[in-house]
Amino acid sequence: MLVQMQIRGVDLSVDFCGLKFPNPFVLSSAPPTTDGAMIKRAFSMGWGGAITKTLGLPNLEIVNTTPRLATIRGFKGDLIGLENIELITDRPLDVWLEEIKEIKKEYPENILIASLMTAAVKEDWQELVRLVQATGVDAFELNFSCPHGMPEKGIGAAIGQDPEIASTITRWVKEVAEIPVIVKLTPNVTNIGVVAKAVEAAGADAISAINTVSVLIGIDVEKMEPIPTVDGKSSFGGYSGPAVRPIGLRCVAEIAQATKLPISGIGGISTWENAVEYMLVGASTVQLCTAVMFEGYRIIYDLIDGLADYMERHGFKKVQEIVGLALPKLSAHEKLSREYKVVANVNPDLCIKDDLCARVCQDAGYSAIQIGPDRIAKVDEEKCHGCSLCQQVCPVWGCIQMKLVNQKRGAGVENT
Ligand SMILES: Cc1cc2nc3c(=O)[nH]c(=O)nc-3n(C[C@H](O)[C@H](O)[C@H](O)COP(=O)(O)O)c2cc1C
Repeated sequence: MLVQMQIRGVDLSVDFCGLKFPNPFVLSSAPPTTDGAMIKRAFSMGWGGAITKTLGLPNLEIVNTTPRLATIRGFKGDLIGLENIELITDRPLDVWLEEIKEIKKEYPENILIASLMTAAVKEDWQELVRLVQATGVDAFELNFSCPHGMPEKGIGAAIGQDPEIASTITRWVKEVAEIPVIVKLTPNVTNIGVVAKAVEAAGADAISAINTVSVLIGIDVEKMEPIPTVDGKSSFGGYSGPAVRPIGLRCVAEIAQATKLPISGIGGISTWENAVEYMLVGASTVQLCTAVMFEGYRIIYDLIDGLADYMERHGFKKVQEIVGLALPKLSAHEKLSREYKVVANVNPDLCIKDDLCARVCQDAGYSAIQIGPDRIAKVDEEKCHGCSLCQQVCPVWGCIQMKLVNQKRGAGVENT
């Protein structure tokens, strides 16, 4: 059994609404937590916590489709995003109850959270809570956020999209729960802060965000069928992986601005840097699904090592010291400086002499880049508006940098 809290003088343990996680890395409710044996194996490899695949009462009949996954990949085959149309667990609740007891017996120091979802009926929610609570599980995560299948039955994201229903169900659960109640929110709303405030007022102990983003990942143009195709048809599904990280970061920052609750950050995390990004905008634990589905539990080794190294380099002794540090730097757009001016600066040694930067500057910018007789890009600083489009499209990392040209901030020339 591996419970890693101290590494190279930094303390990776996290207090999250009274739960002591050995480290902030948690498996989210999803295929990596399909059953008890898998969760035990993940704990043995160093994961700090795990949320079970969402459990429901037996009256919620669950039959999954095959297939139920589809991807968008980059030119080099790297994963951009994953769509799934998977439902909650299709394994019997009584089997899960036994497995949860066993996991807690074998791994008492790891945090095990039961994800719950059932019909929007008070008796059903309270029965489910009582049954699962008796196992000795550490906390509940209420799944108010699955965007496919369940909303058709008035549950999942249908609950998280309505602050009133979300707070009513949170209250029902809080009436019988003797352990912390975390509410998992959906990004498929206009203002996630409003829902976060509603469940905070209803007594939620913490919030996790985000669940998947509602999408239609693509269409097979030859067959003229939406994908993933199930016998010729598909439905809208939930998007996860790297593409949703910016949405998750924005949601977590909005929740941190709107409430005082601890936050578990989720969405597109695959490296320790991604985890730190979430912490800097308010998350004290982080959850991963898609990265584990694509690389396996072993990514925990790099996550732990990378976070410990980062903390050591920056002199942080505890994870909590990182939480929210970037929040004061998020401001209203109108408060952003208009005096801070940068222009593009091309490093001729790195320029590969294609004309992409000049072409896009001509066609979608300010015609500030010319290709010289030596085929190297040259920037006319008078014409450059500093938008950074050329830097974004340049295929060579570091070839185009943005140079500070006013003297208002610090010592003059500065690269961004
Ligand atoms: C195939 C699949 C099944 C999922 N099942 C559940 C589920 O049962 N309950 C739940 O709360 N979230 C579920 N999720 C959502 C994940 O827990 C997570 O919130 C989401 O995938 C974003 O994180 P990621 O980008 O690290 O994957 C599922 C995600 C995937 C990809």
